[in-house]
Amino acid sequence: MVSQEPSIVPEHSLDRDCTTLSRHVLQQLQSFSPDAQDLSAIMNRIALAAKLIARRLSRAGLVAGALGFTGEVNVQGESVKKMDVYANDVFISVFKQSGLVCRLASEEMDDPYYIPENCPIGRYTLLYDPIDGSSNVDINLNVGSIFSIRQQEGEDLDGKAQDLLQDGHKQIAAGYVLYGPATVLVYSIGRGVHSFILDPSLGEFILSQENIRIPERGPVYSTNEGNFWQWDEAIRDYTRYVHRHEGYTARYSGALVGDFHRILLQGGVFLYPGTMKKPEGKLRLLYETAPLAFLMEQAGGGLVRGRKTSWTPFPIASMPVPP
Ligand code: AHG
Ligand code: MN
Ligand code: MN
Repeated sequence: MVSQEPSIVPEHSLDRDCTTLSRHVLQQLQSFSPDAQDLSAIMNRIALAAKLIARRLSRAGLVAGALGFTGEVNVQGESVKKMDVYANDVFISVFKQSGLVCRLASEEMDDPYYIPENCPIGRYTLLYDPIDGSSNVDINLNVGSIFSIRQQEGEDLDGKAQDLLQDGHKQIAAGYVLYGPATVLVYSIGRGVHSFILDPSLGEFILSQENIRIPERGPVYSTNEGNFWQWDEAIRDYTRYVHRHEGYTARYSGALVGDFHRILLQGGVFLYPGTMKKPEGKLRLLYETAPLAFLMEQAGGGLVRGRKTSWTPFPIASMPVPP
């Protein structure tokens, strides 16, 4: 018999605690179709990867072999950290025998990783930056992971995954995990941007904010001003403008996910202009810029792709996309 006594747990708080990531995806799609179930299951696996990485990061200074460099250089020409390798392997491991994702491509791998037994079933591809902001790892500052889901186009017979060079608007889902004081997961399936906080007592990501909209104006500009001397004159002009006017402030952590998250919630602009070494900018289109651009558009923000000869004196939300 159901008690008529008022419950000691307010109903809304219980419902909120039960709004996990996988449930939220199904709510968003308003469907229990096989496709909706697959997408929900994919997000659930990404959540598992995030929990594994968060756990490793939280104890990295106490675990032998967790910090420091491997001695290898990745396909981007950057020194690889042990945490990059660990996080890269975590994503592969959570998708093995999942029937969900056929290929994984990451900035830490020369070629995509194929899971052939998944291919006839799930023709999704996961693109990811396993640890974003690796330079922060050894000093216990914030880092992140970035992910994007794309659907395979064509047969990929030569195994080179050329179809991944498709338009960024074709991304099915994108998001990131921010490993900070709390572990936060932000995602979009093209129906707004939503954030979840990992509740360690439950081991679940619980909905914290739905339909995030970036503020129209924000005081922050976020860029590595150490590269000032290498920038185009238009970008230097913009930087001089914010130096000489009241109401602007600089914030830069060296981890894109953290800098982007601040701007998503508080407004402002992030810039990574081209340098002499990397004229097209340092950020990687498939693993960093496209997924974050997808989120930024969904949150009502804007992006600037490539070079611009004119600039906006007001910080709009912006992500430079390499050509
Ligand atoms: P990653 O750690 O994945 O290589 O990414 C680092 C990126 C990005 O997170 C950050 O915004 C930028 O590189 C920092 O570059 P600088 O050190 O040149 O400022
Ligand atoms: Mn990165
Ligand atoms: Mn990285």
